[in-house]
Amino acid sequence: MTKAILVRKKKKVGRYPAPGILRNHFVAETSAGIDTCSRINSLLPSDEVPYLLLHGDAETELRKLPEGLVHCAITSPPYWRQRTYESGSGLGAENDRRDYISRLVRIFRELRRVLRKDGSFWLNIGDTYYKKQLCGIPWQAVIALQADGWILRNAIIWDKVKGNPDNSKDKLRNMYEFIFHLVMSEEYYYNADEIRNPPGQPSYKNGKVVTPTGVSGGKYKRQIVESKDLSSLEKANALKALTEALRKVTDGRMPDFRMIIRGCQRSTHSDSPEFSGRATELIKRGFCILPYHANGTKPGDVWRIIPEDEWRKDQHYAVFPKEICQIPIKATSPKGGLVLDPFAGTGTTLVAAIELGRRGIGIDTSAEYLGVARHRAEHALQIFSETQSQRTLF
Ligand SMILES: C[S@@+](CC[C@H](N)C(=O)[O-])C[C@H]1O[C@@H](n2cnc3c(N)ncnc32)[C@H](O)[C@@H]1O
Repeated sequence: MTKAILVRKKKKVGRYPAPGILRNHFVAETSAGIDTCSRINSLLPSDEVPYLLLHGDAETELRKLPEGLVHCAITSPPYWRQRTYESGSGLGAENDRRDYISRLVRIFRELRRVLRKDGSFWLNIGDTYYKKQLCGIPWQAVIALQADGWILRNAIIWDKVKGNPDNSKDKLRNMYEFIFHLVMSEEYYYNADEIRNPPGQPSYKNGKVVTPTGVSGGKYKRQIVESKDLSSLEKANALKALTEALRKVTDGRMPDFRMIIRGCQRSTHSDSPEFSGRATELIKRGFCILPYHANGTKPGDVWRIIPEDEWRKDQHYAVFPKEICQIPIKATSPKGGLVLDPFAGTGTTLVAAIELGRRGIGIDTSAEYLGVARHRAEHALQIFSETQSQRTLF
C-alpha cells in the first residue's frame, strides 16, 4: 500500500514559491492508502504544499502520477550489485546485469510518461566490478535508454575530487561517475542563461587590454604576420579583425574571444568543411574570430564536486551532493516548476529544488529515508520562506 507523507506548515512562513502569495500552511500527515490517480491528484505539490513524498516502489508510484506533469527528473537509482537496500524491491540485486538494465528502462519509461514533453531527465549511475571485470553499466544503461526512445544530450563526468580509498594492487582508484542528461524531444526547455558563469573582467598590461582568459592578441598577431598560409590581403583582414575584437573587449561589447588562423589552429570540432561552418570560414577568409557569449560561458561537462558524507550517520551511504542537482534544476525547470526524484532516499533532490524555488515529488521504498527527506525538506522550506519574507521587507 502506498503511503503519502504530505507536509504543510503550521504558521505563516512567507512566500512560496510565487512572490505575492502569503499563505497558511498546516502540518498534516496521512498514511492513508493512495490507490487511485484521483486521490493522488489532490495531493500533488502546489503553491501551498510544495512537496510530496510517496512511500513505495518507483515504477508502481510513477504509474499513479498523471501524464506530462514534471519539468525535470533527477535521480540516482540503486547501482547494480553495490549495496542492499531494505526495500525488498530487489532493484540492483539482479544476477544478470541485463535484467537490471531492462528494469531501469521500464521504470524510466514510466518516468517519461510523467515528464512534460519538453522535460529533462538527469540520471546519475555508477559502475560495478564483478568477477574482476568493470561492467560498463552506465553506458549499457544509456544505450538501452536511447534504444527506448530517449535522446542523450550530455554525458557528464562527476569528478569526485578525492575519491574513495582503494586497496587493490592492480588497478587505479575510481574517481568519477556519470550523470546523463536525457530528453524526449528535440526541442526542450533549457535556460542556459541561468547556469552561465558570469564573464570575467579584462585587465590591462602596459596600457594594452588582456581578456579574462589571458588573450592580449600578441601571439595571434605574430602568427598572422609570419604565416605562410595567408595571402597579404588575408593577413591585413585578419589583423583588422583582431584589432576590432580587442577594441570590443576594451569597451565591454564582447567579454572574451579566441581566434583561429589557417595553418595555426584547428577549428574546434572538425577541420572538414562538410561538418564545420568554422572550417568553411577558415578556407574562405583564412581566419575566424570566436566570441564568448555576452552573458558568460556555460559550465562544462566535467563537474568537480566532493561527495556528501554528512548523512552517513543515517546509515545511508549513497547520498549524492546537493550541488549535483543545481545545474539540472536551474537549466531545465522554470521557477515554481516541478522536480521529481523516483529514488529520493534522503531527499537531496527535493532540498535542492525547494532552495531554488521549485516544487518536488520524491518516491522511495524506505520510510526511514523518507523521514530524513521530510526533515531536510522542511528545514529547506523554512529557510527559503524566511529568505523570501526578508526580501519583501527590504
Ligand atoms: C542511490 S540511493 C538514492 C540516494 C538519494 N539521491 C539521496 O540523496 O539520498 C537509492 C535509493 O533507492 C531506494 N530504492 C531502492 N529500490 C527502490 C524501488 N524499487 N523504488 C523506489 N526506491 C527504491 C533506496 O531506498 C535508496 O534510498
